[in-house]
Amino acid sequence: MSNSSSIDFKGRVAIVTGAGGGLGRQHALALAARGAKVVVNDLGGARDGSGGSVSAAQAVVDEIKAAGGEAIANGASVTDFEAVQAMVQQAVDAWGRVDILVNNAGILRDKSFAKMELADFKLVVDVHLMGAVNCTKAVWALMNEQKYGRIVMTTSSSGLYGNFGQSNYGAAKLALVGLMQTLSIEGAKNDIRVNCLAPTAATRMTEDLFPKEMLEAFRPEAVVPAMLVLAAQDAPNRTILCAGAGTFEAAHITLTQGAWLGIDADTPEQLAARLSEVTEREGEAVPQSGTAQGANEVAKGMANAKRG
Ligand SMILES: NC(=O)c1ccc[n+]([C@@H]2O[C@H](COP(=O)([O-])OP(=O)(O)OC[C@H]3O[C@@H](n4cnc5c(N)ncnc54)[C@H](O)[C@@H]3O)[C@@H](O)[C@H]2O)c1
Repeated sequence: MSNSSSIDFKGRVAIVTGAGGGLGRQHALALAARGAKVVVNDLGGARDGSGGSVSAAQAVVDEIKAAGGEAIANGASVTDFEAVQAMVQQAVDAWGRVDILVNNAGILRDKSFAKMELADFKLVVDVHLMGAVNCTKAVWALMNEQKYGRIVMTTSSSGLYGNFGQSNYGAAKLALVGLMQTLSIEGAKNDIRVNCLAPTAATRMTEDLFPKEMLEAFRPEAVVPAMLVLAAQDAPNRTILCAGAGTFEAAHITLTQGAWLGIDADTPEQLAARLSEVTEREGEAVPQSGTAQGANEVAKGMANAKRG
């Protein structure tokens, strides 16, 4: 089932965070197998973020080298901006540039919102959101100077659509979509493309959620093609690509056409009565920036002013 041109990373330098296991390990192996020099970052902690050791990252580096690839290990926590800056410097010292950043590191602290401690909320936001912010900030100037960059944010269906017990994780994961929306606009002039990946895979993070017979189908390798497309030279910009078990989808943040109701004392009642018209999805758009909402509102307001 192919004829398409191959995706090649020869001469490219990639950083993959949280690449000591799970999806990140597969991302790093695949990038290296297609020619990229890879910084394999991993704190090496437990699923809830406790503990740490560089040995998880080093094991993946050893695997890449054994297969003839180039890689270096890094044990920084993505939450530590100075350590992240040092990681980027490590890549620049070794290979002179950073072309690809895959923000993949993550932890879970699941609990219903009623039972969740704020400390567990903050920690999850810190690792997923600020971890990606730290790594992106540390490569941003470099990518702008190079006039080339590919950044992949790892979001989640839990952020896009919600999941019981994951208010902290979901909030952090959807925040990454918000980060991507603006960075993809700001980076475009220097060919920095920023996209999101929403994976489904059986890893230590999710293994207890999958029935045994599904574990093979949901192996992390099945997500990797989506990451490779988002990291490639021909990557799209501002796409939310979903992937799992060989199926690929896209998620969109849309804006309905809406209805102009004016600004009257009974507008709340009118809005309540016409809510289904306002939320009607026929004719909805995927705005290219936040100004689209205001533009739609101005257009509808002007049209009604003319009529009145
Ligand atoms: N597995 C899924 O179905 C699924 C679904 C949606 C999103 N995700 C996301 O995919 C990414 C990878 O998850 P996974 O399923 O492979 O889980 P995983 O637990 O196997 O991998 C996460 C890795 O991140 C590392 N890590 C954690 N905190 C870190 C920190 N502060 N600094 C550096 N490294 C750190 C861990 O040591 C671990 O190796 C995560 O961002 C996760 O939220 C996974």
